[in-house]
Amino acid sequence: MCSLQAFRASILDFIDDPFYATLADSVRYFPDGLLVLEDGHVHAFGHYPDLHSQYANCPIVDYSNHLIMPGFVDLHVHYSQTEMIASYGKQLLDWLNTYTFPTERKFKELSYARQIASMFCDELMRNGTTTALVFTTVFPQSVDAFFEEAQQRNLRMIAGKVMMNRHAPDYLTDTAETAYTETKTLIERWHKQNRLLYAVTPRFAITSTPEQLQRAGQLLREFPDVYVHTHLSENVKEVAWVKELFPQAAGYLDVYDQAGLVGDRSIFAHGVQLTDAEFERMAQAGGAIAFCPTSNLFLGSGLFKIEQAKSTKTPIHVGLGSDVGGGTSLSILQTAHAAYEVAQLRQQTLSPYQILFLATLGGAKALKLDDKIGNFNVGKEADFVVLDPRATPIMALRNAAPTPTTLETLAEQLFALVMMGDDRSVRATYVMGAIAHSHDSATATPSAS
Ligand code: GUN
Ligand code: ZN
Repeated sequence: MCSLQAFRASILDFIDDPFYATLADSVRYFPDGLLVLEDGHVHAFGHYPDLHSQYANCPIVDYSNHLIMPGFVDLHVHYSQTEMIASYGKQLLDWLNTYTFPTERKFKELSYARQIASMFCDELMRNGTTTALVFTTVFPQSVDAFFEEAQQRNLRMIAGKVMMNRHAPDYLTDTAETAYTETKTLIERWHKQNRLLYAVTPRFAITSTPEQLQRAGQLLREFPDVYVHTHLSENVKEVAWVKELFPQAAGYLDVYDQAGLVGDRSIFAHGVQLTDAEFERMAQAGGAIAFCPTSNLFLGSGLFKIEQAKSTKTPIHVGLGSDVGGGTSLSILQTAHAAYEVAQLRQQTLSPYQILFLATLGGAKALKLDDKIGNFNVGKEADFVVLDPRATPIMALRNAAPTPTTLETLAEQLFALVMMGDDRSVRATYVMGAIAHSHDSATATPSAS
């Protein structure tokens, strides 16, 4: 009996960053590939014709005419805002007061938090997202609900309790002290349990006093391998208010810097309004930005300067964030589509390889998790997505050509997949080699030979 699992399909991953390296050095593509797993980890990966005789006794799941890629990484999303996605007509600060805070209030109820956590994880699986950096709410029980759900599904997820002690309704605020003690308890309970990791999560500079930000910094000194996850320089009015609230700081990023919150495990959502000096500081610190294009368009925040973040002068780790409910879709394919269009509006053209790098290995690198996820190097955790480039009639028409055999012809097909794809293109999602979602579970299953 063979104890291994094997999957045959076209297989694509990245071994370096195509914003800086050539395609030959950064893209790995097997038109007829074989991915072999052992105990949920990659055991072997390569050309089917080269490998299959070694695994002749193993059942092979055949996903012919499909593309296997590493699971998508959503670098910034609010599970607590699932229910209020697509709420009409406001920009950031009004949107928070009108829709967001009343919705997050509901998470005081553990049963509601559990219900949404389950629905949210189902949606991630339906969209091929296997790792996410997640905002919860101010209520510790909302963190427990999310981590319990993720743990039960064996997901690699990162989350944290929102810290916020001012400029929000009383029903949604903590204090500098309770934010510290509750976060500390949650780190001790959840950080590194199974595949879960903790992020210290001050909401943004406006809703934390300087004292609370200092307490967040204290937590990082006490637990140096947890993350920082917050919002930064999203909206013009927000940036102006931060200037008023922190007159002694050199700028928005400096508010976080003064509290010891800017380092190589810091992930900042948005960064739309960053100055040149802030790009330089971010590059020097090794921090990461979650590029949230659907949200930045939906809330009218602006066009992220992707070309500056991915320049050789100020190279910054970037991944894609859906930012639901500010963002309009949990699909990282749709998020990637919007990233392409935002770059177009800045007179920049992203290649499909660059965009899909951001969605996979780029996100993993931003999280310093590229030793565990992000591509199919031997030993990595086998989280992956099976994509159907011909999922709808019009996609089948557009991608009618046979399986691409070169990076040039693959680029054509990938680009159409990114532009037209969404959850319908996700045939299946696997977590540590176990099926977590299948588009066709009610009908045919992939053939095993
Ligand atoms: N800034 C502070 N809180 C939020 C939030 O919930 N969503 C977004 N997009 N920006 C924020
Ligand atoms: Zn957000």
